[in-house]
Amino acid sequence: MLKNKKIILGVSGSIAAYKAVFLLRLLKKAGAEVKVVTTPSVSHFVGNLTFSSLSGQEVFEGLWNENWSEHVSLGTWADLMVVAPATANTMAKMAHGLCDNALTAVFLAARCPVMIAPAMDADMMIHPRTRKNLEILSGDGHIVLPTGEGFLASGLHGPGRLLEPEEIMERIELFFSAGPLKGKKLMITAGPTREAIDPVRYISNHSSGKMGYAIAEEAANLGAEVTLISGPTNLTPPANVHFVPVISSEEMFLATQKVASEQDIMIMAAAVSDYTPAEVATQKIKKKSDNMAIELKKTTDILKSVGQNKRPDQVLVGFALETEHEKDNAKKKLLGKNLDFIVLNSLRDKGAGFSHDTNKVTIMDREGRVQDFPLKSKQLVAKDILDKVISLLEKTIKTHETSL
Ligand code: CTP
Repeated sequence: MLKNKKIILGVSGSIAAYKAVFLLRLLKKAGAEVKVVTTPSVSHFVGNLTFSSLSGQEVFEGLWNENWSEHVSLGTWADLMVVAPATANTMAKMAHGLCDNALTAVFLAARCPVMIAPAMDADMMIHPRTRKNLEILSGDGHIVLPTGEGFLASGLHGPGRLLEPEEIMERIELFFSAGPLKGKKLMITAGPTREAIDPVRYISNHSSGKMGYAIAEEAANLGAEVTLISGPTNLTPPANVHFVPVISSEEMFLATQKVASEQDIMIMAAAVSDYTPAEVATQKIKKKSDNMAIELKKTTDILKSVGQNKRPDQVLVGFALETEHEKDNAKKKLLGKNLDFIVLNSLRDKGAGFSHDTNKVTIMDREGRVQDFPLKSKQLVAKDILDKVISLLEKTIKTHETSL
């Protein structure tokens, strides 16, 4: 599949640099033409001779020699640049356009898409600066891969482990293939809603939107045409999706109604307010008595309404966030809202639910299959959810073919 594909492998100075050697071998075996560019600190971990021997090409490692203009020619030569491992330092430079070494200079000159596989310690990975840099890079349209969870070279346990070379290879092959969701339209709701009480106050919840945004980004990477309908969050929408910002549950409902019939896949990850004030005060409510009550009325259950109008060829996925009798409650929602499957997360699981970068889910489908997944980054959970969607779509096509 990668025959004659031109790939720049950018390696930065991490203990995980040895995995880049294995990745290089896999790329070469698959028929790709690979040129390696390194940052100066890589030599502490792996010698450039290893990379030049395996790639059959000279390694581009410095800006201050006769090949100084190579960064421009490399940048225009490649079909894809893969930075693996991408350290926190290199990603910070990439996010802010600094170019004081060969790798960052090639990155700035690159006209091809760029795939970034981060690797660092857990504490660095969750630092707000690193999160911001990752957001900037994916907001610019670069493909930012998730990291694995587990034991790190430092002895810490957590996110930040570079994906295995085989997993990065899978993403590279996916990039060059049409993508399993190519030609499919996918709508996803995400984030909280805000229900106005008066001009300055509202009812809302703790949803960060991270799960829904991760699904939107992953689906777009898999080739889908994605519409992301989102309540207010602090997140930057992925670059390659149609973004529809909304505030209230009513606005979210109307936005879904506009596009639902055109969709192949609909995933409702938003934490929609179940109730909204019966009346919105036109002026700020002044404090008077010691107690006060606000009358609330039910909002439209968006997922249920979409489920009632769903065609057999559409895949509909809901979420359930439960605090007790999790599986029983999720099953009721799965059947009651006419879903193909439901993604259950419990607030009782450590690291799962609102605001975390990780989630621990159970997927329950209409055939009674129940799959419990371990705690993972929300990006990897998004992949599990979309894998399930893809297998359902394949089944729908087969059923259609046999009925013809
Ligand atoms: N949902 C929706 N519209 C609503 C309420 C919920 O689309 N007005 C969707 C959510 O996006 C989620 C699923 O329904 O996919 C389940 O949401 P949840 O709040 O767990 O369940 P509810 O049906 O609201 O039931 P309850 O609050 O009683 O648990």
